[in-house]
Amino acid sequence: MPWDPQRYEQFKAERAAPFQDLMSLINVREGLSVIDLGCGPGPLTERLADALPGSDVLGIDSSAEMLASAQELAREGLRFEQRAIEDVAGEFDLVFSHAALQWVPEHSALIPKLLSIVRPGGQLAVQMPSNFSHPTHTIIDEVGAVEPFASGLNGYVHSWSVLGVEQYADLLFASGATEQTVFEKVYPHVLEDSDALADWMSGTALVPYMERLPAELHERFMAAYRDLLRERFPRKPVFFGFRRILFVAGR
Ligand SMILES: C[S@@+](CC[C@H](N)C(=O)[O-])C[C@H]1O[C@@H](n2cnc3c(N)ncnc32)[C@H](O)[C@@H]1O
Repeated sequence: MPWDPQRYEQFKAERAAPFQDLMSLINVREGLSVIDLGCGPGPLTERLADALPGSDVLGIDSSAEMLASAQELAREGLRFEQRAIEDVAGEFDLVFSHAALQWVPEHSALIPKLLSIVRPGGQLAVQMPSNFSHPTHTIIDEVGAVEPFASGLNGYVHSWSVLGVEQYADLLFASGATEQTVFEKVYPHVLEDSDALADWMSGTALVPYMERLPAELHERFMAAYRDLLRERFPRKPVFFGFRRILFVAGR
């Protein structure tokens, strides 16, 4: 199961708050050259472009499905290309990434590289989840550890690359950031029931599992996942405290 733009967009209202928080830290100037790393289906890249007058915004993503959806939003000053974040090069006034860098390994090398492509006077602005110890994540691995899923996954367990907030502050300083704002915040979401948690995860954290699991096991995996979530979150509505790291660094 690849990235699915429609499923991902199901929770777009919940994703708007961290985007707004990140935007509030950006120095808005006329005519910025901007790259959005892991732009997904594109609506937030479009909002980024709309908020920056006269900017040239390039959204990149490795998923053909997400890119196809994003391309529909292309206009003057807003374009999209299929490219891996690892391969990014060039010089930009703003290097922006919202809810995507958690998919890229080795942040101790990645963050200095991303800061190095920021033009002097520009900014690196990042938001990414840091809630990987939440049951929505740990239950995925609980389900994946039992048969027939363990064999279906060949023992695969996704390893998240996100570091602690202090480590990002250290890395940014060591990489030459002239100023920085780094913080972690819990975004409160109230969802109808535990199935909504499963639906949310099926658009993100479950993607690498479903990509590896034989198609005939997808439904059984989801049913087992929903059952354990229901046990862990029996009440309705369900409170989902979603922890995220945000940072902006100047160069
Ligand atoms: C959770 S979505 C975020 C989309 C958008 N930025 C937003 O906030 O709505 C993560 C996106 O990162 C992309 N992605 C993951 N790893 C990537 C990589 N190594 N290079 C480029 N894109 C990647 C995925 O294809 C997906 O579209």
